[in-house]
Order: sequence, then structure tokens, then C-alpha cells
Amino acid sequence: MSNNIEGKVVVITGASSGMGEAAARHLAVQGASVVLGARRIERLQSLADELTNQGGKALAVETDVTDPNQVQRLVDEAVQTYGRVDVIINNAGLMPHSPLERLKIDDWNRMIDVNIKGVLYGIAAVIPYMKEQKGGHIINVSSVAGHKVRAGGVVYAATKHAVRVISEGLRQEVKPYNIRTTVISPGAVDTELPNSATEPDVAENLHKFYKEFAIPADSFARAVAFAMSQPEEVDINEILFRPTRQEL
Ligand SMILES: NC(=O)c1ccc[n+]([C@@H]2O[C@H](COP(=O)([O-])OP(=O)(O)OC[C@H]3O[C@@H](n4cnc5c(N)ncnc54)[C@H](OP(=O)(O)O)[C@@H]3O)[C@@H](O)[C@H]2O)c1
Repeated sequence: MSNNIEGKVVVITGASSGMGEAAARHLAVQGASVVLGARRIERLQSLADELTNQGGKALAVETDVTDPNQVQRLVDEAVQTYGRVDVIINNAGLMPHSPLERLKIDDWNRMIDVNIKGVLYGIAAVIPYMKEQKGGHIINVSSVAGHKVRAGGVVYAATKHAVRVISEGLRQEVKPYNIRTTVISPGAVDTELPNSATEPDVAENLHKFYKEFAIPADSFARAVAFAMSQPEEVDINEILFRPTRQEL
């Protein structure tokens, strides 16, 4: 019986670490062709080599998601290499938390550019292909912070709320083209995300919290696989998951 994953061409942004990397591994083993985008090309290339050596299909494409042309090239290369694009996982993101009064305007801008605009550029890059194919699946990564705002993480929460809003609007708009849409909102997952904090005290607290609470990144990979593996007429629109112990 088909798992509805085998043979699919899946573009993943932010595949050089954490949840993107875990999704790439999980989906490649199940027979998807994975097209990996991020800035750290050496890490992407070694992941692609490893997956290929294990009999999978993987392609690494250096991509900065703040540049719409680079995101378009990532998707174009997927189509040129594998003939189509079935799924995009708009996953690249960063979380340099800080109270607003610290005026970390560069961090705010980077979060807006990567977490919101990067997702929009991914959507823009696949829509023409998916309309023509009359099918596809766009998976966006929000967060528990897309549901709840907490002092000290306001701009990050704003970007993740935006991802949910964009995903729900997208869902309504692409119905006529038979495109599925899923927004996945994880709680604390053990990745390199706390390293993106630029304030030393915030970074220390984040690392402590993650050490205590975070669950492995394959939790995200399994959520992706669950949404993808449904029959094509079933559209899993939202998934919210947390560590069992995580209160907020
Ligand atoms: N871990 C959690 O607890 C958690 C919870 C909720 C939501 N999330 C979300 O999950 C997503 C993945 O994060 P993660 O937890 O897996 O953290 P991670 O290990 O730090 O991974 C982040 C990924 O994003 C990529 N990235 C950052 N800026 C980029 C840019 N300008 N262009 C292209 N790629 C870029 C990084 O690659 P390069 O540096 O190589 O470019 C990396 O592959 C993020 O959207 C994050 O907000 C995470």
C-alpha cells in the first residue's frame, strides 16, 4: 500500500539542521526525493551525500530565503532535477528573543525577513507549478508562539502568528487548484534554534529551558509524514504539538 510519500518531490527550507534535517531524513527513508535549502551548503551537501549513499534521492541547493530569487531557484532546481514539486516545507526560521525595550531592531528585521517573508517566497515559488500540476502540498512552520504571546518573545510570536494567518488565507485561496495546506506549530524541540538568540542572558535561559523540556526533532518529522501520508482528498490543515511536560 502506498504511504503517499514515496516518489514525492519535497523541497525543505532550513534543512541544514534541526527539524528540517530531521524531516529530510525521515522522508528520504520513506522514498521521497528531498531538495534541501539553507545557507550552510557544506552541511546540506553532506546530508544529501549521506541520504544518497543510503539509497535515497537528495539534492542540496544553497539558499538564503530572504532572497526571493534564491528561493525560486531552489524550487526550479527541484523541478529540473526530479520533474515536479509535490511538497514544500517552509521551515527556515530563527528566534532571537529579547524584550522590546532592548531595541534589537536588526533581530526584529531578520525574524520578519526569514520567518514571514521567507515563507511567502516559498509559497510564491511553488504556486505556479502546483497550479499547473493541479495538485501539491504547502507546509508552513509556525509555533506554539503562533498561538500564544509571551513577554520577551513578542516579535517572534508576531512572525509565527503571521505564518498561521498566511496559511489559513492560503488554504482558502488554493482550494480550486487541489493544493493541500498544513501549518505545523511545535512546542520546544531539541534543535539549534536557541543558538539564534543574540542576548547572552536570553540565550542562557533558552538553553536551560530546552535542556529540560525539548523533545527530539523527529517528532516534527512524524507530524509532516502524518499530514503528507493522508489520502489526497484529506487535507490536514493544522497540527499543534508540544512536549508532554511543556505547560505553555
Ligand atoms: N525548535 C523549536 O523548539 C521550535 C518550536 C517551534 C517552531 N520552530 C520553528 O521551526 C523552524 C526550524 O527551526 P529549528 O528548531 O529546526 O532550528 P534550527 O536547528 O536553528 O534550524 C533553523 C534552520 O533555518 C535555516 N535558516 C535560518 N536563516 C535562514 C536563511 N536566511 N535562509 C535559509 N535558511 C535559513 C538554518 O540554516 P542555515 O543557517 O544553514 O541557513 C537552519 O537550517 C523555525 O521556523 C522555527 O521557528 C522551532
